[in-house]
Amino acid sequence: MNMEDLGNSKLLNWLFKPAGRVMESRLRHRLSDPVKTLQGADLRPGQTVLEVGAGTGFFTVPAARMIGAQGRLIAMELLATYVDRLTEKAAAAGLRNVEVVQRDALRTGLDTATMDRALLFGVLPYLSLPLNRLLPEMHRVLKPDGVMAVWMFPVAGWVPGSIRRSGWFDYLHKRNGVYCYRPAVRAADAPAVTPSRPR
Ligand SMILES: C[S@@+](CC[C@H](N)C(=O)[O-])C[C@H]1O[C@@H](n2cnc3c(N)ncnc32)[C@H](O)[C@@H]1O
Repeated sequence: MNMEDLGNSKLLNWLFKPAGRVMESRLRHRLSDPVKTLQGADLRPGQTVLEVGAGTGFFTVPAARMIGAQGRLIAMELLATYVDRLTEKAAAAGLRNVEVVQRDALRTGLDTATMDRALLFGVLPYLSLPLNRLLPEMHRVLKPDGVMAVWMFPVAGWVPGSIRRSGWFDYLHKRNGVYCYRPAVRAADAPAVTPSRPR
């Protein structure tokens, strides 16, 4: 069974429905302000943004508002029940800049170097998003000056250290609890330098 099939599993969707309600509960909104956290990712009008594991949209709606009508937000999620909820929420909020995509974020299907931001909010560490496969994919889809923004709750644990050591990203800074990384220039991406001949 591949990941997308898993995302359509009736049992899994039934099991995760209560978690979806908690993720968009009033209590969560009271305890943490999604806009303040998103500001840590430096979202700006007109940006193209990939949100990995968007869940029931706690961050999706405010993020879409921050990038405005000229921006584009791809909200990627595996579970069908969350995808339905996201679609409903985006429509209710009148957001035309959100594309809800049911897909495994380990193989996004997005074009290379097209994203200004990749938001990994509340999705790390996660068994179905192993860093050794997720980081190369995020590196591939981000523009060279793009930013991978990671918000980990309740604990960051070993994840920041693993990202630094991976060689796929360079650490920029941490703002409002959000770790920001720039895609590293890797040997394979670096422009070939023609050695000048000694005269
Ligand atoms: C803990 S929830 C966080 C949801 C949301 N970001 C939030 O903070 O409210 C993690 C989400 O990642 C999704 N997810 C897990 N693995 C995924 C994958 N490989 N591709 C896409 N989404 C995935 C889960 O279905 C779940 O909705």
